[in-house]
Amino acid sequence: MRIREAVHQVIDSPITQVGRWKNDASPDLPLIDVSQAAPTYPPARELRYHIAAQAQSPATATYTDQQGVPELRVALARALTADYDAPVGVEHVAVTAGCNQAFCLAMMALTEPGDEVLLPLPSYFNHDMWLRSQDVEPVYLEPGPDMVPDPAEAAAAITDRTRAIVLVTPNNPTGAVYPPALIESFFELARERGLVLVIDETYREFREHSGPPHTLFARPDWSDTLIHLYSFSKAYCMAGYRIGFMATNPALLRETLKIADCVALCPSHIGQLAATFCLEHLDAWKREYRRTVRDRVAYATRRLREANTGFDVVSSGGYFVYLRHPFSDRSSVDVGRSLAEDHGILCLAGSMFGPGQDRYLRLAFANVDLPAIDDLVARLELLGRE
Ligand SMILES: Cc1ncc(COP(=O)(O)O)c(C=O)c1O
Repeated sequence: MRIREAVHQVIDSPITQVGRWKNDASPDLPLIDVSQAAPTYPPARELRYHIAAQAQSPATATYTDQQGVPELRVALARALTADYDAPVGVEHVAVTAGCNQAFCLAMMALTEPGDEVLLPLPSYFNHDMWLRSQDVEPVYLEPGPDMVPDPAEAAAAITDRTRAIVLVTPNNPTGAVYPPALIESFFELARERGLVLVIDETYREFREHSGPPHTLFARPDWSDTLIHLYSFSKAYCMAGYRIGFMATNPALLRETLKIADCVALCPSHIGQLAATFCLEHLDAWKREYRRTVRDRVAYATRRLREANTGFDVVSSGGYFVYLRHPFSDRSSVDVGRSLAEDHGILCLAGSMFGPGQDRYLRLAFANVDLPAIDDLVARLELLGRE
């Protein structure tokens, strides 16, 4: 079969590649899996019971409205209004089959082949993969000292083909949380230059500070520029339920629904009922889970900084620690593979997050407890002495 060239050129998902490393991992050591940011931590017990009961009703096996069940959209608008301290109307909200789908729908509706989208480095690989598959060119922005992008650099990179700027905060892979003022600057830049600002806030709950991550929703004209993306996968440990959403301009939502209609018709009905239950009943559970993840990331950051491993923490937050490895003559893939094969540590290579990232590794703390973190540090110390 003749495959579309742009799709053929896209890399295989790094998660698939790392799955192969897992198979080759040292059988002599228990595997420390800090590769995927997907929780295997169970969703709340009440949620599981609720879904089991809901599944008894044949009505939950039907399609829903393309933009999602009304109760969930109302709950989402209410949650945004509360969390960002600014009114967001239900007409601005559409539920999607995961946050990734929201990104793909929005970009497909907004870009033409040959367009450019600004992606700060390091960048979330699925954003890069999708844009490339659509013949849209990612234009990378170099990270500053704290792994945050610079609006001035973004301004200089804009051409007449640029359509959007994409921010992920807290960031995957670095964990860096962009300050509200920086997000404001990017919004201003996008607005002035007639671009769209996409902000993927999948890891929003895992910031150190609660309170609104930014003030953009308070602007009367926010939806002319902003596309806010969110995922239920991480905060509620329900990745397989495939629920995310986007908040933006109703006119853009209407266009994305044409695509969504062809791709999936609607997000999973039962998944949407689960997400509604989360918003209505699981605040306390979410706070507890968020504390667990934040404690792990803080503990790993402290232990790695104190230990003499040769691996330096360059940034941490969200689910992640971004490490600089000590081997200047080796690629991050090579280092990652040998960490798996020889030391039973499964992580992602920096180069999976874009060019110039070969000195880095990403560790994700969705699924490792504190003793496993001690073990991880001990293995890296051992490696440093080899
Ligand atoms: C930044 C970011 N956005 C989106 C996703 C995927 O979210 P979903 O499972 O809702 O598609 C991930 C998953 O790792 C992610 O890191």
